[in-house]
This record gives sequence, C-alpha cells and structure tokens, in this order.
Amino acid sequence: MKYAKIVATGSYLPTKILTNKDLEEMVDTSDEWIIDRTGIRERHIVAENETTSDMAYHAALSALNQANMQPDEIDLIIVATSTPDSVFPSTACILQNKLGIKTNGSIDLQAACTGFIYALTTADCFIKSGMAKNILVVGSDSMSRIVDYSDRGTCILFGDGAGAVILQASDEPGVLGNEIHADGNYNSILTCDGHLYNGEIKGNPFVYMDGQAVFKLAVRSLTAVSKNLAESIGVDLAQINWIVPHQANIRILESTAKMLGCSMDKVITTVDKHGNTSAASVPLALDVAVRDGRIKAGDLVLLQGVGAGFSWGASLIRF
Ligand SMILES: CC(C)(COP(=O)(O)OP(=O)(O)OC[C@H]1O[C@@H](n2cnc3c(N)ncnc32)[C@H](O)[C@@H]1OP(=O)(O)O)[C@@H](O)C(=O)NCCC(=O)NCCS
Repeated sequence: MKYAKIVATGSYLPTKILTNKDLEEMVDTSDEWIIDRTGIRERHIVAENETTSDMAYHAALSALNQANMQPDEIDLIIVATSTPDSVFPSTACILQNKLGIKTNGSIDLQAACTGFIYALTTADCFIKSGMAKNILVVGSDSMSRIVDYSDRGTCILFGDGAGAVILQASDEPGVLGNEIHADGNYNSILTCDGHLYNGEIKGNPFVYMDGQAVFKLAVRSLTAVSKNLAESIGVDLAQINWIVPHQANIRILESTAKMLGCSMDKVITTVDKHGNTSAASVPLALDVAVRDGRIKAGDLVLLQGVGAGFSWGASLIRF
C-alpha cells in the first residue's frame, strides 16, 4: 500500500512582534487578562509590503531545504489560507511562480483555521490515488489584515505566519488516517463576510466572533474527532506521542487534552509566542517541535484543527 509520508517541515514568522503590552496601548485590555484568558504573550505581524504568498514562500523554502529537494520536484502545491493575496490568481499560483516551478497543479483551499488539516487530507488522497508523488502543503495567513484593532475581543488573539510540509509517496507508514467535518449551521459564530461587490467591499471586512460559543464548540468537536479517528484506525489514545493542536487559546488546548485523558506534556504549544495564526498554526507548531527534536522518526502524532465554518478535523501520522 502507498502511504503519504511527511518528509520535511518548514515555517516562517514575520519579524515584527506585537506584544500584549503593545495591545494595552491600543485597546482596553491588560497583559494579565490576555495571558490568563488565552495564554498568548505575543504574536508576529506581517510587514506592510509582505503578503501571504511571501510567508508561504519562506516556509516552503525551509521545508524544501530540509528535504534536500528542488522546487521542480514538487508536482502539486496546496495552500490553505483565508487571507489570499488576491481573489485570483490563487496564492498557490503566486507561490508556484515565486518558487520558479513551471507547470505543476497549484490550488488554494479555504477552511479557515481548519485549512491545514483539510489540505493535508486532500494531499493524502492525491498521493494514495497515485495522482501525485511529492506535494507541498502550506498553511499561510495574514490575519492582521482582517482583524479590527479596536475590537479587544478578537485583536488579542490573532497573529501572522506560515508553515509547510512536504508529503511524499512512500511504502512506509506516514499519514494513517484523516477525518474532516463541517457544520454550516454554526457559520455565524465566527465570520469575516466582507467581499468585493461591484467595486466596493460589501459586509464586514473584519473578523467577528462569538468567543464563548467558539470555545465550547471547539473543545467538543476536537475531542470527538480525535477519539473517533483514533478508534477507527485502531490506535489507543495512550499510544500517541504528541498532539499538535490548532493554537487557538491555551484553555481550549488544556480542556481538550483533559477530555482526551492526555497530559499537557504531550501537547505542542506555541500559542504563547504565535497567537492564533489560523491555517498556519498547526504546521508552524509541527515545525517547531520537529526542529527542536521533540518529534522524532517513528513517533505517532495527532494533528487537530478547528475553525470557522464551523469546521474541524484531525490527522493521525506516523513520523
Ligand atoms: C475570546 C475569549 C478569549 C474571551 O474570553 P472569555 O473568558 O470567554 O471572556 P468573555 O467573552 O466571557 O468576557 C469576559 C469579560 O472580559 C471582557 N473582555 C473581553 N475581551 C477582553 C480583553 N481583551 N481584555 C480585557 N477584558 C476583555 C469582556 O468584555 C467581559 O467583560 P464583562 O464581564 O464586563 O462583560 C475566549 O472566549 C476565547 O478564546 N474563545 C475562543 C476563541 C477562538 O479560539 N477563536 C478562534 C477559533 S479558530
């Protein structure tokens, strides 16, 4: 059987850092409140002339370097983002051009903060079907472009960044299984409905969020999908070496780990330094843990994503 194996990871964070102290100057909040309610201390913010595809490019290059591969060995690019450079061309096509690749398939995928899990699931299917051998899967988001920095309920949460993996056809186990879900009934609790309409922006160009509703649904859905996926593959949750969750709020990570009976020692957390980078958060956290040596070859790793839609999903991977 052909597996899809993660052979390299990469990431990129913009240089500018926005701390909680900086936010104290912008809205009625405090460093203590933000740390206590979210676990976030700082987040990175794109430069004015920097785009989602620029961040994706740096993350992709770092993954390609780790894999010791040339860009033209990639036969499909999937970019998960909800902050694309433009309506069209896709950010994936812009990235393809920046990487100097000529004719491979390149697509964007939008599933908000669950985007990377959806993209990885899609890439896994391409490899298992034999349609691709080397896929570059990127999560990249410039959330600071769609956050209202006068809304203290949302602006404290989000940051910018990109993460990437290279998924390769292999005879050795890699991605063991994926599960993706969505329930559009909950689409109003987390939205950014602004869109181009006859030359103007119609709707709200900024993130709107019912924080408490998102919080509860996130814990419930991540717990359910993780249990279900592990059971369907025949893996006991206790066998999992690492959980790499979407970095939304430390309290969501802690509550979910508790519901799964997992110690926080097994949970990779970057939310304190990155905030919520949407589709970038899972591959960014994964890259951090691979590069600092915590995630090693042979480890069983559970990736979890959740976000607007409402959407959620998980992937179980043998490294
Ligand atoms: C947004 C979130 C941090 C708010 O935390 P919370 O504990 O639920 O806080 P509440 O919304 O109940 O608000 C409690 C109080 O803090 C206030 N508050 C909200 N944001 C604040 C801030 N940044 N600083 C200080 N006070 C704040 C509220 O106005 C409220 O005041 P009140 O009691 O006088 O009305 C939390 O709900 C959350 O993280 N939700 C999930 C968000 C998420 O992960 N979204 C992305 C998913 S992909």
